[in-house]
Amino acid sequence: MQIRVIRYDTIDSTNSEALRQARQGAAEGLCIVAEEQTAGRGRLGREWVSQKGDGLYFSIVLRPGIDESLITLLTLMSAVSVHDALLRSAVNADIKWVNDLLVGERKICGILAEATETPGGMAVVVGIGINLRSRNLPVDVAAIATSIEEETGLSPNVERLIEDLCDALTAKYELLGTSDGPQTIRRLWSERSSYADGKKVTVNMGDRSLEGITRGIEDDGGLKVETENGTIVTVRAGDVTRLRSNGPCAN
Ligand code: BTN
Repeated sequence: MQIRVIRYDTIDSTNSEALRQARQGAAEGLCIVAEEQTAGRGRLGREWVSQKGDGLYFSIVLRPGIDESLITLLTLMSAVSVHDALLRSAVNADIKWVNDLLVGERKICGILAEATETPGGMAVVVGIGINLRSRNLPVDVAAIATSIEEETGLSPNVERLIEDLCDALTAKYELLGTSDGPQTIRRLWSERSSYADGKKVTVNMGDRSLEGITRGIEDDGGLKVETENGTIVTVRAGDVTRLRSNGPCAN
């Protein structure tokens, strides 16, 4: 995959711009990076606070030629890549299914994958938001979020982070395309996530929720959860929260 980075000072959302360019025929590997987003978005229609210089706002166009049902694997691949890039900035993050990177249970990165039809076939945009600094986070967000600066005490080297991210995404995406790639990505994800197995969680699926213990990753990237009566349920959408003995915690 040939990486090409286009930078903006301000944009509505790097995901929106990557989707627009994908529909106009942009090749796989196009990356959109912005200093600031005016309409940054997260999963489930949530806002992604995106003030100037406080985060890395990054989106990449992929043309994976896989069934839409396997998009979760792209999210796992992206989370593994972000994990490895963060390690190079001295941050050792946990991965919470499906797309959150946490340090000490506070969120440092979120990932939003969106698919679109284009004249050249389906494209998937993977949007990655990494908190660089915590200084301007709204109080409610600051309680559940952290940043590279907060974790390391150092001003993040953004250019190096972008380079590390592009290198990691290129390597892991190529790996995902090999015959045992999906299996390897699931293994790499599980090795980096305390949520993969044996974690007591509650899963909020909008209209209902379930509690149980995580039991690994399904072939398509879904999270297997064993409920109290011993049934294994595969979760494919929803918010996972760690359960403490006295109830759910904040992230
Ligand atoms: C989440 O955790 O809910 C996902 C957050 C994804 C945020 C990133 S920032 C870059 C890209 N552009 C967006 O509008 N969203 C993603």
